[in-house]
Amino acid sequence: MEKFIVMGEVQLTGNIRVGGAKNATLPVMAATLLCSGVNILHDVPELSDIKAMQEILAVLGAKIVREGSSLLIDTTGISKQEIPEHLMREMRASVFLMGPLLGKFRKVRVSYPGGCAIGPRPIDLHIKALEKLGAKVKESYGYIDAEASVLTGAEIHFDFPSVGATENAMMAAVLAKGTTVIRNAAREPEIVDLQTFLNKMGARVIGAGSDTIRIDGVTKLFPAEHTIMPDRIQAGTFLIAGAITQGDVTVENISSEYLFSVTDKLEEIGADITVSNNSIRIKAGELRGVDIKTLPFPGFPTDLQAPMLSLLTVAKGTSIITETIFENRFKHVDELTRMGAKIKVEGRTAIIRGISKMTGAIVAAPDLRAGGALVLAALAAQGISEIEQVYHIDRGYEQLELKLQSLGARIIRSNG
Ligand code: UD1
Repeated sequence: MEKFIVMGEVQLTGNIRVGGAKNATLPVMAATLLCSGVNILHDVPELSDIKAMQEILAVLGAKIVREGSSLLIDTTGISKQEIPEHLMREMRASVFLMGPLLGKFRKVRVSYPGGCAIGPRPIDLHIKALEKLGAKVKESYGYIDAEASVLTGAEIHFDFPSVGATENAMMAAVLAKGTTVIRNAAREPEIVDLQTFLNKMGARVIGAGSDTIRIDGVTKLFPAEHTIMPDRIQAGTFLIAGAITQGDVTVENISSEYLFSVTDKLEEIGADITVSNNSIRIKAGELRGVDIKTLPFPGFPTDLQAPMLSLLTVAKGTSIITETIFENRFKHVDELTRMGAKIKVEGRTAIIRGISKMTGAIVAAPDLRAGGALVLAALAAQGISEIEQVYHIDRGYEQLELKLQSLGARIIRSNG
C-alpha cells in the first residue's frame, strides 16, 4: 500500500495553481445524463472519486474519453438506470445520480451510498425532495427504487441546507413540468457551478448561491461545454500549508470570494493575506490560537476543519474547534496526538492546547480531509513522518506530493 514519506520543517515558498474542484465535477458529470450527446468538461481533476464516477457513467452506457484535463462524456447510449452496488459503495456522491436518472428516464435504482467514514450520512433530504416532485420511492433490502410517471414542479423546503440534496433536487427538477422552488437551499459555490452548467444545457435555473433556487422545467436538454470551477478546498489546504510551515505561498486560479471565512481566520491566527486578481498570497507570522465553528457556506467549511486543526496544534494558546456539519470528523486527532499534539475531544468540540513543534511519526490517513491534515502536520513536524493509507488522500487531492514538492516540500510517495 502506498504511503507518503515526509521530511518536516521545510518552509514552503512559491506559487501553485489549483485545478477544477472535485465537488463541482461530480454533480456536473451526473448532470450530463440529462441529455443525449457529447458533453465536454475542462479542468477535470484526476482523482479516484472522479474515476469512480466515470466507471458508473460507463456502466450506465456512457462513453467517456479523457484528453489531458478535459473529459468528453457521450451520453447517447445510456441504457441502464440501475447503479451496481459495489460502485455505489465507493463514493457517496453516487447518490447524485438519482436526480438526473429520474428526471430523464423517470426511474432509478440505487443502493445506499458509501464514501468517507465521517459519521452517519443519511439521504432522507434527497428522498424527500424527489418525493415532492412526484416520485414514488421504495426502500427495501438496502436498495432504493424511485419511479415517477411524471415529475411535477413543487415547493421544496429543506430542514438543513444539504449540498447534495440541493444538487439532486435541481437535477430532478430541470425536466419536470412547471416550476420548482427550493428553499433553505445550500449556498455553496459548487451549486452555482452546477446551475451554470444546467443553463448551458438549456435549463432555466436561477438563484443558486442564495437560499432560494427557482427552476422552470423544460422538455429537453442538450450537451454542453463547461470549465469546472477551481477547488476552494485545495486552495485552502495550500494556504494552511504555507502558514504551518512558516512559508510564503501564493495560490493561483482562485477567487477570494470562495474563501473569506478561511482567509479571515488565517489573518486572526497571525498570517498576512494578500488578495490579488484571482490569487491569494499567505505569509506566515507568529501563530496564535482561535476558535472555529464549521457551518454551511459562507461559514467555515467542514472540509478544511481537519487541516486547520493541524495548524492550530502549533499555534500559541488554546483553540476550540466545533464541528457542526458531520459527526465523527475528528479522526485525525488520535494520529496528531502521536505527533505530540495536545488535543482533547468532547463530543463535537476539540480543544487544542498549542505546542511549539510536533514530531514526526508513523500515522495513517483515516479519511480524505483528515489525510490532508496529517500531511500538513508532517510538513511542519520535526523529523520524518510516514503517512499510510494515501488512497484516502487520492480521492480528493490530485498528486498532492508533486504539488507540495513544487513549493519546496520534501515529500515522496513510496510503495513499500
Ligand atoms: C458535500 C461535499 C462534502 C462536504 C459537505 C458539506 C460533495 C461531493 N461533497 O457532501 O465534501 O463536506 O457537502 O459541505 O459535494 N444530511 C442529512 N440528510 C440528507 C443529506 C445530508 O441528514 O439527506 C446531513 C449529513 O449527514 C450531514 C449534513 O447534512 O450531517 C451535511 O451534508 P451535505 O451537505 O448533504 O453533504 P454532502 O452533499 O454529502
